Amino acid sequence: MIQVHFRSQDGSVTSVAGADGDSVMEIARNNGVHGIVAECGGSAMCATCHVYVSPDWLERIPPMSEFEDELLEGTGAPRMENSRLGCQIKVSDTLDGLEVTVPASQY
Ligand code: FES
Repeated sequence: MIQVHFRSQDGSVTSVAGADGDSVMEIARNNGVHGIVAECGGSAMCATCHVYVSPDWLERIPPMSEFEDELLEGTGAPRMENSRLGCQIKVSDTLDGLEVTVPASQY
């Protein structure tokens, strides 16, 4: 299993695990992580799975597609340099221990 740490705005961290190939969004939803709405269910249409990737991990996650880049312009919380869509980050062994921060709001 691959562990992902979700940091909330109050600083608390929820650590949960998923399988190789799961997306960060799926791991959050499957484990009841608060703040990941994922209205479109991972179809890259809603931007309500927005997360901020910890700077330590930014270079290790796969690059974003042009489509994801465009969708990130419509996030509820401000877009930052480390903004990504959780549904577009598929985890693998190399991402074991990944840390992301959940925005204050997805709307
Ligand atoms: S779940 Fe809708 S864009 Fe990620």
